Amino acid sequence: MIVCANFKANKTRQETQAYMAVVESFVSANNISDTVIVFPPFTALEHLPRNVLIGVQNAYPVQNGAFTGEIALEQLEEFAVTTILIGHSERRHILGETQETVAAKFRFFAEKGFTIVYCVGEPLEIREEGNEALMDYISNQFEGIDLEYPDLIVAYEPVWAIGTGLTPSVRDIELLHGALREKTKAPLLYGGSVKVDNAGEIMTLENVDGVLVGSAALSANDFCDMIAQAAELS
Ligand code: 13P
Repeated sequence: MIVCANFKANKTRQETQAYMAVVESFVSANNISDTVIVFPPFTALEHLPRNVLIGVQNAYPVQNGAFTGEIALEQLEEFAVTTILIGHSERRHILGETQETVAAKFRFFAEKGFTIVYCVGEPLEIREEGNEALMDYISNQFEGIDLEYPDLIVAYEPVWAIGTGLTPSVRDIELLHGALREKTKAPLLYGGSVKVDNAGEIMTLENVDGVLVGSAALSANDFCDMIAQAAELS
């Protein structure tokens, strides 16, 4: 199983260090062999423990250069970061990243050998149009993406389920993940309102290889609980 925490724009450097201390000791004490990935804010990359993978939530696809406000490869290399989240719906919908931008990021970081957690997911109005529209929408989000990239992890995160407390039905998650499985051999994560109470059930579903958790992972103890649930299933 793969269990990921996406902090988004939450937590200070100090809070992240305290959080990582809890998670790292939990992972060691329980001999967890599942993959645990934390995506903290850029400001908290320094001095993080390393028995848990640390990834970034975004980066600009260049070595370095005149890109005001961006973080590029050179800055990630300084922290030995080789894991990145690409295509998160908040970047697509709030920050206006087009599929072209997302695909350019994918190509650049794939060429650099990064582990890429690539996110797809539909807004509510698309889901309401039915299965065909839903699958077309998701397929378009794979345009320009190499689904055979060996260090690819795909995360399905319906936009309407993120931060809302709503989740698709178990059957709908299985249907969607089944369709994703036909497209790629990459591990498939589910994200969107995953919490301690539903993580275990979601991880038992067919073609679900882990979870990508936002708000409920902001508590280190809750995140450890979800890691323990994953470990039980592995
Ligand atoms: P929530 O867990 O807060 O719904 O967020 C999910 C998410 O966007 C993880 O990337």
